[in-house]
Amino acid sequence: MSDPTQHPLSADAVLSCAGVRRSFPVGERRLEILHGINLELRAGERLALMGTSGAGKTTLLHILGLLDRPTEGSVRVAGEDAWSLSPKRRANLRNQKIGFVFQFYHLLPELSALENAVLPAMIKLSRRAFRSNRAEFLDRATTMLTRFGLADRLGHRPSQLSGGEQQRIAIARALLLDPPILIADEPTGNLDRGTGEKVLEILLDEQSARGVALMLVTHDERLAKRCERVLYMEDGLIQADSSAPIPT
Ligand SMILES: Nc1ncnc2c1ncn2[C@@H]1O[C@H](COP(=O)(O)OP(=O)(O)O)[C@@H](O)[C@H]1O
Ligand SMILES: [Mg+2]
Repeated sequence: MSDPTQHPLSADAVLSCAGVRRSFPVGERRLEILHGINLELRAGERLALMGTSGAGKTTLLHILGLLDRPTEGSVRVAGEDAWSLSPKRRANLRNQKIGFVFQFYHLLPELSALENAVLPAMIKLSRRAFRSNRAEFLDRATTMLTRFGLADRLGHRPSQLSGGEQQRIAIARALLLDPPILIADEPTGNLDRGTGEKVLEILLDEQSARGVALMLVTHDERLAKRCERVLYMEDGLIQADSSAPIPT
């Protein structure tokens, strides 16, 4: 048994967690959802996370994405122990190293498609630095949105866009700062099959072109087959790792 306080680090791990537990207060009690998770995501790899609904996949992704703090255990992002950093440094780490794609897009309703896509740069830079680099980031976002087939939707608000269009903007936002880590939680779970497949091809094409490490929650076995590694989660634990050596 490996020591749960030690990260199971390969030299090329960009994201890892060790001994992660998460419980939530429910009335007088605490309900434990994650029971001690160790895993790592290696640079550039494509990793699928599967498991039944309620297994704890979203809870785990939020912890790996630094959106939620584990009750116990630690998370390393690009070599940094994320929860030992100040909130400001942790926010910077998340901003620069992690792109996150949610099932329900989470775009800001009052911003245009293009503004949503450049948001990470607005967060990264001071107001003055953003002003002087504005053209570069707008150009970068425009190029990406154009590649994703949204050239004539740049000024639209999220409410004026279809689900597939909103998710493409969310992918552009996640990739704007070229992070080494991309986390996607059932990114096509809310889309019809045809639209979902197109969005997925965009996501996978960008992933391989950029060499960004992808951790993807999916229920789709065919998609999982296109990933280098598949982890299965059940009742708050990782059950099996397809990368485990196969006995010969
Ligand atoms: N904030 C919360 N408070 C209480 N229970 C929660 C909270 N978030 C998630 N849960 C519970 O944790 C379990 C796992 O949820 P989730 O991580 O969303 O699973 P999955 O993404 O695998 O479907 C569910 O039973 C859910 O009700
Ligand atoms: Mg979920």
